[in-house]
Formats: sequence, C-alpha cells, structure tokens
Amino acid sequence: MTVHIGAEKGEIAETVLLPGDPYRAKWAAETFLKDVRLVNEVRGMLGFTGTWNGHSVTIQGSGMGMPSLSIYVNELISTYGAQTLIRIGSCGGMQPHVDIRDVIIAMTASTITSPSSGILREINYAPCADWSLLRAAVAAAEAKGTTTHVGGIYSSDVFYAERPDLDEQMVRHGILGVEMEAAELYTLAARHNRRALAVLTVSDHLQTGEALPSDQRERSFGEMVEIALEAAFA
Ligand code: ADE
Repeated sequence: MTVHIGAEKGEIAETVLLPGDPYRAKWAAETFLKDVRLVNEVRGMLGFTGTWNGHSVTIQGSGMGMPSLSIYVNELISTYGAQTLIRIGSCGGMQPHVDIRDVIIAMTASTITSPSSGILREINYAPCADWSLLRAAVAAAEAKGTTTHVGGIYSSDVFYAERPDLDEQMVRHGILGVEMEAAELYTLAARHNRRALAVLTVSDHLQTGEALPSDQRERSFGEMVEIALEAAFA
C-alpha cells in the first residue's frame, strides 16, 4: 500500500491506463476488461485490475491536473512497478482542422510550469511520448478509421485560462489541443525509464466554443480506451 493507493503489491498490473475521472476508470474497466476487481478506493480515486485479451491491465483514476497525476504515477512506478502508463482523457481542440470527437495522440506536451519545474530549473525540457506506444496507437487508430491527429499538445496548469495571448502563441506554434496532465506523465516516465503515452478525445474547442454533448462522450471515450489497449500490447 502507498499513501494514496490501497492495493497490495501484485494487485496492480504492469500496464496502467490513467483516466482523470475515477468513474471513467470504473466504466472502462467494466466495459473492456474481464475478471475486474476494485483495487483502490482511497479518496474515491477508483482503480480496477482485470484482463484484456489475457493481459493484466489496471485502470486507475489520476485526478485532474499534473500535481494529482504526479502522486498516482510516482506511487504506481515506485511501489507497484508500473512499466507502461497511458493517459486516456479529454482535451480542448486548438487548431481549426481539429474537430470535437477527433482523437489526438500527443507526441510532445509543452508546459508553462509542471511539478517537475522545480528540479528541471533552467532546462526547457521537452516531454515526449514513448515511440513504440505512439507508433502502435497511431496504427490502431488508423485501423479503426478514427480521425486522429498526432503532434504537440499543451499541458496547462489551469482550466480557466486568463491569458489569451498564451493560447494564441500555442495555436501559432501548431499545438493541437490543451489538457492538464500529459507533460508530467511523460517527464516521470522518462525519469524512471518507463513507457508513456497520452491518447485524448477532443471534448471541446477553444476557437469554436463547441462542446461534446454528454450523451456522446461515452462512445468517443470507448474508442480511446481500445486504442490505448491495442497500443499497450502491440
Ligand atoms: N480538458 C478538456 N478540455 C480542456 C480545456 N479546454 N482546457 C484544459 N483541459 C481540458
């Protein structure tokens, strides 16, 4: 057990999918895994372990934002030995050619600050995805016919941004979408020599103001879970 995860050692798989929302973890585990058991409910941050095509998989909520994700990912890596960590979540679209419901596979994740800024100090580190996972996820998404964009995203510290000039620069520099977790996931994976990826559904759009209606979120989310599972075991 760790401070934030109640599972015994051995109850967490080497492959972990990380939705921000613990209820998404429950839904994904019950929908896609077999022999599912609840392995964590500390602070309501639900985690489940089951099997997918015979492979052991854990789906653990990460919470929202990099500080929360950092807690779970540090404990998953250091105590439970997680090797492959894939964020599955939503993001805001930032480019005109990116539509809601599209999938973004994040090759890199830019930040203003992250929990790792304190140790990286003057280094303008470029957090990047694991190549084997990225390649496999793109292949899985293409095989499904999902409209997919691969490139840089922005991991923000805030959902309610008050600096439109920052968004403008991100858009100008080709950033596809904004979310709040991937950069720290990639940084921690690099630090501990693990594999990480973020597969994201575009749930809203910063330029058009469009947002995915809640009844359509589940279907888009499901495609993303399948892409992540296929990439993990490719
Ligand atoms: N996640 C989903 N949409 C987002 C947005 N617009 N900003 C930050 N994180 C998000």
